[in-house]
Amino acid sequence: MNETRRIALITGANRGIGFETARQLARLGFKVIVTSRDGLQGKAAADKLQSEALDVGYHPLDVTRPESIQRVAEFLDNAFGRLDVLVNNAGIFPEIGYADSRQQSILAADADVVRASLETNALGALEVTRALVPPMQRNGYGRIVNLSSGYAQLTNMGGRFVAYRMSKAAVNVLTRVFAAELAEDNILVNSVDPGWVRTRMGGPNATRSAAEAAEGIVWAATLEDGGPTGGFYKAGEAVPW
Ligand SMILES: NC(=O)c1ccc[n+]([C@@H]2O[C@H](COP(=O)([O-])OP(=O)(O)OC[C@H]3O[C@@H](n4cnc5c(N)ncnc54)[C@H](OP(=O)(O)O)[C@@H]3O)[C@@H](O)[C@H]2O)c1
Repeated sequence: MNETRRIALITGANRGIGFETARQLARLGFKVIVTSRDGLQGKAAADKLQSEALDVGYHPLDVTRPESIQRVAEFLDNAFGRLDVLVNNAGIFPEIGYADSRQQSILAADADVVRASLETNALGALEVTRALVPPMQRNGYGRIVNLSSGYAQLTNMGGRFVAYRMSKAAVNVLTRVFAAELAEDNILVNSVDPGWVRTRMGGPNATRSAAEAAEGIVWAATLEDGGPTGGFYKAGEAVPW
């Protein structure tokens, strides 16, 4: 397979920050693979971007399902034989639906909710990355962006939302460990905090648009060779862990 375009794959790209990141990377000339767990929504997202004359394809991917991850890896190998950029964007914030702040307390934490959060946000990113790193290693090029959060910062760690906080702190661990192991392969791995963003997760009162948030992700996805790796960034600026 002699594909020369840069290929980017984004998890959970049917809406929100993932969708905007797909749009911005495609505008830069990437062939972007929008993935989502819901086929209809994912195809509709890809259609929308194609209608803007962008080079966007679609493939299903549920980051919690090993067979789904395997299928997307095979698709990339067969269709392009390469992957240049992976954005681990898919995420859930289960505790955000709790209206009563007492339910948000660690004292009320539900182990199943913690498990679900870890499974999607952390294990999902781990398994997707492990499956998609080999083509990057073969090509000696890769940029991996892990969506983290201010809620993951140990420096500012406060109360509540332990499931989400644990899962995103674990994402930061993935960033460090993958970055350390892949440094020799020209694969740069960084965590990005998008800020508080107006999406279904962030709600209508959030301070940043999805397009603004995507800019910081695109920055990390398009770093020059020799650029930073194993870091934590917000809008292109380093932030404390
Ligand atoms: N919004 C914020 O203020 C904010 C702040 C800090 C960090 N973040 C992070 O930014 C990322 C994107 O968030 P967002 O604000 O765009 O949220 P969003 O609008 O709720 O979108 C989340 C996306 O993740 C997908 N997803 C969830 N579980 C999945 C799974 N098992 N497999 C594949 N996709 C899955 C969702 O798919 P469905 O449509 O099928 O549910 C959706 O596409 C998340 O990792 C989030 O934690 C957001």
